[in-house]
Amino acid sequence: MFDTLTKAPGDKILALMGEYAADSRSDKIDLGVGVYKDEQGTTPIMSSVKKAEQRILAAGKTKTYLGIAGNKGYGAAVLDLAIADAVDRSRVRIAQAPGGTGSLWVLMQLVNRARPGATIWLSDPTWPNHNPIAENAGLKVAVYPYFDTETRGVKFAEMLAALDKLGKDDVVLLHGCCHNPTGANLTNAQWDQVATSLARTGALPLIDLAYLGFGDGLLEDSYGTRKVIASVPEALIAFSGSKNFGLYRERIGAAIVIARDEAQADIVNSQMLNVIRSSYSQPPDHGAEIIRVILEDKELRAEWETELNAMRARMIGLRAKLSDAIRQRSNSKDFDFIAAHRGMFSLLGLPNSVVEHLKATNGVYMIGDSRINVAGIPEDRVGDLADALLAAIK
Ligand SMILES: Cc1ncc(COP(=O)(O)O)c(C=O)c1O
Repeated sequence: MFDTLTKAPGDKILALMGEYAADSRSDKIDLGVGVYKDEQGTTPIMSSVKKAEQRILAAGKTKTYLGIAGNKGYGAAVLDLAIADAVDRSRVRIAQAPGGTGSLWVLMQLVNRARPGATIWLSDPTWPNHNPIAENAGLKVAVYPYFDTETRGVKFAEMLAALDKLGKDDVVLLHGCCHNPTGANLTNAQWDQVATSLARTGALPLIDLAYLGFGDGLLEDSYGTRKVIASVPEALIAFSGSKNFGLYRERIGAAIVIARDEAQADIVNSQMLNVIRSSYSQPPDHGAEIIRVILEDKELRAEWETELNAMRARMIGLRAKLSDAIRQRSNSKDFDFIAAHRGMFSLLGLPNSVVEHLKATNGVYMIGDSRINVAGIPEDRVGDLADALLAAIK
């Protein structure tokens, strides 16, 4: 059977993690892997999560199946968090899914049932797994301009011009906040224009909402999502609780459908549940139950928000420190964009030769396209990192 197969390409990020682990230099710096890290360089379990888990352990009475759509309380709490009252809930359906990535998979399969072979437009750049998930679902992939390597901001005029040309059978993948790989985000005024364009062309937005709370605040970060869904008849959202609840390995997310009306929502939902039933059947509960317990309990929710705010403040602080250190040393504003970016990542816009040089000479690891995880910057080594960056680009 398997003699027809050849080896699939390995994952570049996992390979980089392996290289980092094998590097014996004690002063190496890991800016590659995409998980939040605290000052000690660890990814701890949030205290609110620990408390919720203790409650679940004490109160749990059954491990019977959850149902295809998953944990109902979780679904309601996620909708409150992600979309609030932006649209009438009679048009909204939600299915818990394994992570934001699993949610993308469910939603793209769903799109392909509605419009086989439809084109999904991805930003340039985007995460490397958007493309294969879309293609595996049967969709065609096209690209719209997003990151400006000169300004390290968004090429908004070009992005909007591309979106303006789309039609009713197109799908546009948008990053709800903290555009994952680049750190460059749309302003609220730009979200307004994107929403107007989508309302006019009828293209279907699919919002990848993986970093809610990592940018400027929970409500602030959901502005774009709320604005878009309030402006269009139909929309999809892939929510992830991996980053903002630190639940990476629990695989917790949600596929959300906003349909034209209630009757259509029921039809679309039945297809979405059918997609799930014919693949992994039903979702796991643990991550969803943790999030439900936290969001439904006033005290735990406040504690979680405090923890999330601290994570966000730490990342914003590190951004400011690194760009200040570079400015002081170089007398140039070339890296000020690091402070202006939001979320966990910044795309530095450096050639791969510089990325390789930093790894070989300084033990500074980042993704090959020069994307860094700012949470990986050691607080006490910001100066060293600035020195290394400036020496490498000379
Ligand atoms: C494209 C994309 N969207 C969303 C997520 C959200 O993360 P998770 O699938 O772990 O919930 C990820 C993380 O790997 C991702 O690569």
